[in-house]
Parts: sequence; structure tokens; C-alpha cells
Amino acid sequence: MSVNKDHVALSVPEFQARKGQSPLVCLTAYTTPIAKLVDPHCDLVLVGDSVGMALHGLDSTLGVTLDMMILHAQAVRRGLKNSLMVVDMPFASYEGSPAEAFRNAARIMAETGAAAVKLEGGETMAETIEFLVARGIPVMGHVGLTPQNVHGFGGYRVQGKGAAAGKVERDARAVAVAGAFSVVLEKVPATLATAITKAVPIPTIGIGASVECDGQILVVDDMLGLFTEFSPKFVKRYGALGEAASQAIRAYADEVRARAFPGPEHVYGDKAPS
Ligand code: KIV
Repeated sequence: MSVNKDHVALSVPEFQARKGQSPLVCLTAYTTPIAKLVDPHCDLVLVGDSVGMALHGLDSTLGVTLDMMILHAQAVRRGLKNSLMVVDMPFASYEGSPAEAFRNAARIMAETGAAAVKLEGGETMAETIEFLVARGIPVMGHVGLTPQNVHGFGGYRVQGKGAAAGKVERDARAVAVAGAFSVVLEKVPATLATAITKAVPIPTIGIGASVECDGQILVVDDMLGLFTEFSPKFVKRYGALGEAASQAIRAYADEVRARAFPGPEHVYGDKAPS
């Protein structure tokens, strides 16, 4: 594996120690160029299994494989200097048993240079989280809306409303007790996310949760306006790169069709490019 030798990333204990301090900035990345763009601004970069929808045209994260995650994580790692890199464990790579989870998490760590893995689930995954952490694999938890369980939830619905709040809070506490260094809270009511943030001793990272979380994460393709097939209501668009790319491609196509495309003679004059 070729890695970026200048990588002096924020460490897992340093990230964890930011609990209750200045907000932690997190984004996803799946490729080297995007990793280079996000790195100067982020504390943590997640190679999320959202790559399946954002880059591979899948309609959920369920078809994402361990090999896909490893390939994208290797690319991201080459683009990072400062941020802590965490890699998602894809569906069916960790739920079977703690030993299976260890085998697959160890591959991610060894082959990508990741500092930690992320896996979805609360109380039911606590034993697995403890098993990994005890064996030197830092784990980030993910509770609330866990997209790998989209069929169980019947869609990408808000979790923890009303009486269901207790379950999400128990899940977050279980993940923390099991030794996770941080936990993502996805699509839960703001009051619940704030209560969990106060209740657990590890940083909470919100996505569609609450401004009171210890940090925030977004899918980079969503916030840049690159992925427009499906856009969660809570995502603010900070750019319209998909539209800008579409305009640029249309301009190119128009020039080619009009024989107005600037060929080498226009760009270099009479000299051939060297
Ligand atoms: O896969 C992903 O990008 C994620 C974030 C949305 C937290 O899990």
C-alpha cells in the first residue's frame, strides 16, 4: 500500500478528548482528490459505506462489499495529512460474530492505514465493539437511523421519537460502555441527541440530529450538491457542483458538435504539445 508519508493525523485519543470542547468537523470522502480537499478543514474523514449510493449508483448501502471499502479507503488515505481516517464496516462483514468482525476489521486496518472502523448498532453490537477494542481496533459507533437496517425500519425514517427515545439512548450508552471512542447519532430528534450528548462520556457526532452534538458529519457528495438522486431533508447544500459539472459538459458537447472545439492548433499554435 502506498501512503502519504506526511500524514500526522489527529489520533483517536486526541479526538475523544475533544468531548465537550470545540465542535468536531467530520465529512465523508471516497477518493484521493476529495480527501485532499476536505483534509485541511476536517478533524475526521469517514470512508462511509454511503459510497455505494454516492459513487456506485446502488439504491442502498447493502450491496457495498469489504473489497470496495478497502479500495476507496486506500485512495482516501493517500489524500490525507491531518484528519483521523475512519472506515465503515459494510453490511454482513461484522454482524455474524465478534471473531468475524475482528477478521474483517483487521483487514481494513492493515490494508488501508485506517485509525479506526465504524459499525452500526447499539446494544446488540456492544459485545463486538468490546471484542474489537480489546484487540487494538478503535471503534466508532453509529445509532439512531442505521442505514444498513433500512428494510427493518421500513425506510430512512427518524428514529427515537416519543417512547422510542429510550431505545436510542440505551444504544448510545451501550456503545460508550463497550469502549467506542465516539458515536454517530443519525436522524434522531434534537432534544434526544442533546440528552445523549450530555449522558455519554464520548463525543457524539450528529447527522440530522442536534447542533448540541460534539461534532457534525455530512456526506460530502450531498453537501457539495454532487449527489442529487436522493437528498435527506436535513442536508444543507453548500455547493452546486453537480449543476456546475453538467453546464461544463454541455458547453464541451456544444463546442464539439459545432466544430468549435479548441483543438491543439488553437491551444498551442503551430507547435505540437511536448
Ligand atoms: O456511510 C456514511 O456516510 C455514514 C455517515 C452518513 C455517518 O455512515
